[in-house]
Amino acid sequence: MSSGGPHTSDDADTRLVLGIETSCDETGASVVRAGQEVLSNVIASQHDLHQEFKGVVPEIASRAHAERILPIVRAALSEAGAGLRDIAAVAVGHRPGLIGSLLVGVAAAKALAWSLDVPLVGVDHVHAHLYAGCLNTQPPEFPAIGLVVSGGHTVLYRCESLTEIIRLGSTIDDPVGEAYDKAATILGLPFPGGPNLDTLAQRGDASRHSFPISRLSPDSLDFSFSGLKTALLYAVRPLPHPAIRAGRQPPAGYVAPEPADPANAAAAFQHAAISAVMLKLTRALERHQDCRTVLVGGGVSANSLLRSRLKELGAARGLDVRLPAMEFCVDNAAMIAGLGFHLLERRDWRGDPLTLTAVPTTGC
Ligand code: KG4
Ligand code: ZN
Repeated sequence: MSSGGPHTSDDADTRLVLGIETSCDETGASVVRAGQEVLSNVIASQHDLHQEFKGVVPEIASRAHAERILPIVRAALSEAGAGLRDIAAVAVGHRPGLIGSLLVGVAAAKALAWSLDVPLVGVDHVHAHLYAGCLNTQPPEFPAIGLVVSGGHTVLYRCESLTEIIRLGSTIDDPVGEAYDKAATILGLPFPGGPNLDTLAQRGDASRHSFPISRLSPDSLDFSFSGLKTALLYAVRPLPHPAIRAGRQPPAGYVAPEPADPANAAAAFQHAAISAVMLKLTRALERHQDCRTVLVGGGVSANSLLRSRLKELGAARGLDVRLPAMEFCVDNAAMIAGLGFHLLERRDWRGDPLTLTAVPTTGC
């Protein structure tokens, strides 16, 4: 059983793909023409629903997706000035993510593709983040180095093309966005912490603390952020002298350390986290010197320091750094529709079978 059939590619530049994204806590739908021109990108964030829990609650997320998916699809079509009959294919982020959340998008996409008799295509959400900086602009040159920095993933890739993607390294503990969110909680900032920490960091002095920049082994392309988080915790809530902790008097003249100023601690955290990301990206570029393009995506690609460091790197080395527009940094369906178009082109518009299912883990 297959959804839709092969199409000729003569009319490919007018092909409208409807993208659907429900992998975590954003319900998204988008209409993209020929994989590039974004006609609409509608996102309903659930931040208000998860705020009091300081993290995404899977059952609340999937329920909210179920309530919102159809109105969001209608809004995306209407904003694009398109009707359901104009849609040539339905692309859905089907992996990785929260299983209950993914299932809502996958069920909606299958129902739409089947009822419209158009191809259905499952898209890897993490790979789609790499495509975010290719929307509304010229196609990139390959091979490329890919960097995804999000709440769920921190990964470096070598991309032979948009669809041939090899993983070079990834985080061995927290993803960088999750480290930002936990650090923000330590600093008492509201959820989602990443953007709030970024804003606070811009008022602080990073040189007031020396937090660890994780390098791992000299040839490693993996990342680690748990030590940095711990360093921040003890700067903000310093441990009393070991003698006090053992129930004894501290040495004469002992002065208890002051808790760090939150803005300085945020700035030092941001400096260490982004320096660690840049260090591994630079290592990957040195090892893959044939790659003159850098594809960047994920929520943390909205970070002010990362964006300026990436622009500097691009200018210094003559690289084509694809930074996504701010609306395409966070989870969105435009990147799903865009990459979905290219997957379909590659397969001569043969879609995935309607047995396509949600998968919590990433493909590579
Ligand atoms: O890509 P995304 O929307 O969801 C996942 O696929 O995980 O990324 C969300 C993550 C959150 O951890 C959020 O705190 C982080 O991206 N984030 C930021 C910034 N904006 C969003 N982290 C640091 N600085 C920012 N400006
Ligand atoms: Zn994401």
